[in-house]
Amino acid sequence: MNFVAALNEAAAKNLRVLEDQIRQSISEDPFIFEACAPLIRGGKRLRPMLFLLCANAKADCPPEKTMPLATALELIHTASLVHDDIIDTSKKRRGVETANSKYGAQIAVLVGDYLFAKAFQLVAENNYGSQVQLILSKLVKNLCVGEIMQDRSLFVVPTMNDYYTRINLKTAIFLSSCCRLGAIVAEMNDREIDNLTAYGSGLGLAFQIIDDLLDFFGDETVTGKPHGGDLKSGVITLPVIRALTVSDNAAQLEKIVTRDNVTTSDIDAAIKIIRATDAVDYCRTRAEAHIDSARINLPLTLKTSATLALEQIADFVVDRTR
Ligand code: IPE
Ligand code: IPE
Ligand code: MG
Ligand code: MG
Repeated sequence: MNFVAALNEAAAKNLRVLEDQIRQSISEDPFIFEACAPLIRGGKRLRPMLFLLCANAKADCPPEKTMPLATALELIHTASLVHDDIIDTSKKRRGVETANSKYGAQIAVLVGDYLFAKAFQLVAENNYGSQVQLILSKLVKNLCVGEIMQDRSLFVVPTMNDYYTRINLKTAIFLSSCCRLGAIVAEMNDREIDNLTAYGSGLGLAFQIIDDLLDFFGDETVTGKPHGGDLKSGVITLPVIRALTVSDNAAQLEKIVTRDNVTTSDIDAAIKIIRATDAVDYCRTRAEAHIDSARINLPLTLKTSATLALEQIADFVVDRTR
């Protein structure tokens, strides 16, 4: 299922405007356009859509109040992916060659920096104020801390607690901030703002758990990014953590995942060990629990159509294949 199918007509229209604005935002410099245009094309646009759906969830919010920030959110996300792919030495993203693979890490760092800067420029130019700027700065800081935490313990099996801290910092806070920003721009009350933030947080935890499953079991032609990348780069995620606690072959699995020169046949062996356990079901059950908590937090004061769209996004997050 494509979550765009869940959008009502107004949200789908917003999405078309968003695509134009994203393109415009990278058009100022010819090299940035050349480097970013292919990369920016294939994303799911989940973050700006969450923001837009929340901003329009009680009443229509004027596009001039929402579109620049929606664009900034996608630019920040794309910047983080450009940097993430340098860190993971990943060659493919959104179905195309990564900036680091095409131009080298030096240029890719700068392309990512440019996108971050452009996002903050849009926010400043459109007078969103310090509350919005603070949320954006904090989400980027948290994302960095999450990525640093992960990169400082490559090839080390994290505790369940560390795994959750990491996915909260690098992903859930971003998604919850998108919802929070939507509620703030729409001038909702504190309770509604906090509830939509909690919705985004549950969604974000589930989103990263499913992403970690897709890294093992996803189809590269659908996800648009390489498969098995986490194990190769030493990132140990929930399917492995679970399998290590329940598998008869835990010792062999641990040996594979903590060795820093994993081969393709090691990855195949690890996948076989994981598959023989309940790890996939376990991850899905965990993701579904976070989705349930997301749904429960949806404020009762939203328009029916908005509630429906946000519920469908929640379903999409666990059912998705991309
Ligand atoms: C990828 O995010 C990074 C994660 C937090 C897992 P998305 O899966 O939303 O990436 P795009 O935007 O669709 O490419
Ligand atoms: C999320 O984690 C990355 C960021 C927060 C930037 P992943 O490393 O799992 O993301 P993918 O799988 O490369 O998209
Ligand atoms: Mg990555
Ligand atoms: Mg991943």
